[in-house]
Amino acid sequence: MTKLQFPLDFVWGSATSSYQIEGAYDEDGKGESIWDIFSHTLGKINNNDTGDVACDHYHRYKEDIELMKEIGLDSYRFSISWPRILPNGKGEINQKGLNFYKELVDQLLEAGIEPVITLYHWDLPQALQEEGGWANRDTIKYFVKYAEVLFDELGAKVSQWITHNEPWVVSFLGYAEGEHAPGIKDRKQALQVAHNLLVSHGLVVKKFRELDLTGDIGITLNLTSVYSYSETDKDQEAAQLMEEYINGWFLDPVFKGSYPKKLAQIYENQFGKIDIQAGDMDLISQEIDFLGINYYSRALINYNPNSKFYGIESIKPAESDYTAMNWEIYPDGLYDLLTKLNQEYTNKPLYITENGAAFDDQIIAGQVNDQRRINYLKEHFKSVYRAIQDGVPVRGYYVWSLMDNFEWAYGYSKRFGLIYVDYNTQKRTLKDSAYWYQQVIEENSIGID
Ligand code: GAL
Repeated sequence: MTKLQFPLDFVWGSATSSYQIEGAYDEDGKGESIWDIFSHTLGKINNNDTGDVACDHYHRYKEDIELMKEIGLDSYRFSISWPRILPNGKGEINQKGLNFYKELVDQLLEAGIEPVITLYHWDLPQALQEEGGWANRDTIKYFVKYAEVLFDELGAKVSQWITHNEPWVVSFLGYAEGEHAPGIKDRKQALQVAHNLLVSHGLVVKKFRELDLTGDIGITLNLTSVYSYSETDKDQEAAQLMEEYINGWFLDPVFKGSYPKKLAQIYENQFGKIDIQAGDMDLISQEIDFLGINYYSRALINYNPNSKFYGIESIKPAESDYTAMNWEIYPDGLYDLLTKLNQEYTNKPLYITENGAAFDDQIIAGQVNDQRRINYLKEHFKSVYRAIQDGVPVRGYYVWSLMDNFEWAYGYSKRFGLIYVDYNTQKRTLKDSAYWYQQVIEENSIGID
């Protein structure tokens, strides 16, 4: 067996987010978030599941850190629930909520696990939603204040910060498709939200620099590699538009200080101008320390005049393998994406802040044999390895997810974890993939046949 050896300082981690695992939705002074409201609205979530209890991580974090230790994680990426810190989104600080994260960080550090904090992984305080949420520019200043509270409290201990997780999902699934909280279907509003999220990212980075903190700050985008189904002009144009829609709409502002031209024109013709103020693009494109990438699948695109979205149609090849989300398994896409980012956008360090797969795991006699997840991870690690060999500065990798959890509109029906969670008893069981990952981390290499 050949071993592919990773760089000595390569970071092996795993990721979660607050609403998906914490539960304790109304405890210790926490305010409501838009996801509390959304999941409590009948018909929004598969099986009407909610995050009220989730993995009960709020009460079981010590046990969960023990499991991280057992796997051997170098680092753990989690997010902070804004309404736990500021129940109304602004104003009074909820000390108990803050204490939870201070304790979590201390315990992680004691366990030798580097904490990476995402400031916003979608659980906006409902009180701010009532004032328009991210469509209202005022939310930006409250976000900066919230970030400042955390920088003051945790800035000396936490060395890696992520402003936003997947602003594309927040804007377009939350405000255009209505599949996610707050469940709005208004594409113009979604474009304003996307812009406001980006401005808030810029202002938080600026604040971070002003405070002279020693750590690093960046943003996590959901990115995919886009391919044209054929060589025809029509297909290639559709693929190019998809590239602008899914990747460029956030990459271009962050690294080039402008929106992708073609799609920007289409949007403007259709919806008119959104509110972009003087200085916004400079704020958005100021220097960051790293880029976080969430990669799950590719997009294979052809032109279909009947498609409701500018002729863009996504093809799902029959011969491919798919996860339980019906996402095509396409590890080469990660290699293509990493090299493209490095060539076209940035030579800053790159982190895979999420990658992983849902399968219909079964627990049998206390064991979860998830060979398909092992294969998925191994193939994606190989792509990361190839990119590193080619000189792309990929510095770390976080499996999504540490444990099975609340998969947004899918509720608990999709299991992404390295750890199996029995939601009736809250018993955690390491899946075979967790033991496999343990060995990868220990040897800092993957074995290939
Ligand atoms: C990402 C998201 C995660 C997780 C994952 C799997 O979009 O950041 O919270 O749900 O997808 O679908």
